[in-house]
Amino acid sequence: MKNSKKNNNQHPETDLTTLGRDPLRYDGAVNTPVVRASTILYPTVNALRKSSERNLELHNQAENKITYGRHGTPTTYALTETLSSMDGAHQSFVFSSGKTAVLASLLAFLKKGDHMLMVDSAYGPSRELAKGLLKRFGVSTDFYDPQSNINEIAKHLKPETKVVFTESPGSLTFEIQDIPAIAELTQKSGIILITDNTWASPLYCNPINLGADVSLQAGTKYLCGHSDVMLGVVSANKESSPAIAQAFEDLGACPSPDDCYLALRGIRTLAVRLKRHEKTALLLAEWFSKRSEVIDVLHPALPNFPSHEIWKRDFSGSSGLFGIILKPHHIDSVENMLESLNLFGMGYSWGGYESLAIPTWPYKHREKSSWDPSNIYLRIHAGLEDPDDLIDDLSSGFKLLKS
Ligand SMILES: Cc1ncc(COP(=O)(O)O)c(C=O)c1O
Repeated sequence: MKNSKKNNNQHPETDLTTLGRDPLRYDGAVNTPVVRASTILYPTVNALRKSSERNLELHNQAENKITYGRHGTPTTYALTETLSSMDGAHQSFVFSSGKTAVLASLLAFLKKGDHMLMVDSAYGPSRELAKGLLKRFGVSTDFYDPQSNINEIAKHLKPETKVVFTESPGSLTFEIQDIPAIAELTQKSGIILITDNTWASPLYCNPINLGADVSLQAGTKYLCGHSDVMLGVVSANKESSPAIAQAFEDLGACPSPDDCYLALRGIRTLAVRLKRHEKTALLLAEWFSKRSEVIDVLHPALPNFPSHEIWKRDFSGSSGLFGIILKPHHIDSVENMLESLNLFGMGYSWGGYESLAIPTWPYKHREKSSWDPSNIYLRIHAGLEDPDDLIDDLSSGFKLLKS
C-alpha cells in the first residue's frame, strides 16, 4: 500500500485521503493510530544524548525523531505532515487551540518596541491579544479598515512595523483582503505577513502561495468538523519556520494525540463536507437576499459583495459561514425568532456539521469601520442538514419578526 507522499498531478481532494498515512508502519492499519506518550525511552546513553540535541528543523514527522510527548508523537507528525502539504508550507505546527495558534504566530515575530498592523475585522480574541497581552509587553498595534485599498494600508506602516496580521474574510463582516498586494508591500519592507485562513481552510485558499509568510487556522472549525475538538494550526514558509518552531517550543501548548487523530480523521472528509457547506450556504444566502426583512447578505461569493472580485481571484470555493443584516426589528421578536429555530443552534464557534444562527454586534468591536448600530446583524453557519429543511425552519422563524 502506497501512502503519504503528495503526487503533484493529484487533485487536492485526493491528497486529503492519502497524506500522512503509513499503513506499512502500522501492520496495515489504514489510519495512523493514536500514540499517546510523554516519556520516550532510549536504549543507550548515546541515543538519549542525541535526542536532546533536538533539531526543530527535523521536528516534523521523520521516523524516530520523537523526543518528548510535548513535541509530538507519530500521530502529531502524521497531522503536521498532512497540513504542511495542504498549506504548501515548509513546516506546520499544531497547537491546543486556534487562539494559541494566533498567539504563537504573534510572539514568534514581535518584541518590545515593535509595531503591528492588524485588520480591524480580525477575530475578536486576536484583537484582544494585541490590545492586552502584547501591549503589556511593549508592542503597539494599529488597526486598518478592512475595506482599505493597498495605498491606504501602506500609510499605516512605520519603520518599527514587524507584522501585518490579516484575516480573510474578516470575522462577522467577511471582507476579503488582497493578500498578494499586501505581501508585495510587506516583502519590500521585511515585514512578516500573517493571515488567519480559518474560513476557507487550505482547501479553498492558500495564503502561502499568495505570498503570506504564515497561514494559520483554527482547526477547531472545518478541519475537525464535528464540534468536538480544540486545535490550532500554524503553517509557515521556509524563512519563517524557525521562529514558529521556537514559539511552539516556548509555549508548550501541544494538542493531545487523540485530538490530532480526530483532526486527521476530519481532514479525510473535508472536501465533501466543505462542498456541502458551500452549496447550502449559497442557497440560504440567496433565500435571505430575497426576503424583505433583510437589508444585506454578507457573503464573499455573492457577486454584489464589495470584495467579491478578490475572492473570485484567490479562492477556489466558499465555506458555510456568512452574515446577514436585518432591517430594524423589535429586538424581542428577533430573539423569539432565533430561539424558535429547531435546526439552527446558538453558540460560539462554527465549522461543525450543525447549523447555527447567532446575533453579532460588529459596531461594538471595531475602531475603523462604521456599522450602523440600529441594524441587526446575524451570523449564519450552514451545516450539513438538508437545505430545504433549513429554509422551512427559517421561514417559520421569520414569521415571528415584528417591526
Ligand atoms: C477566524 C478565527 N480564528 C481563530 C479562532 C480561534 O480558534 P479557537 O476557538 O480554536 O481558539 C476562531 C474561533 O472562533 C475564529 O473564528
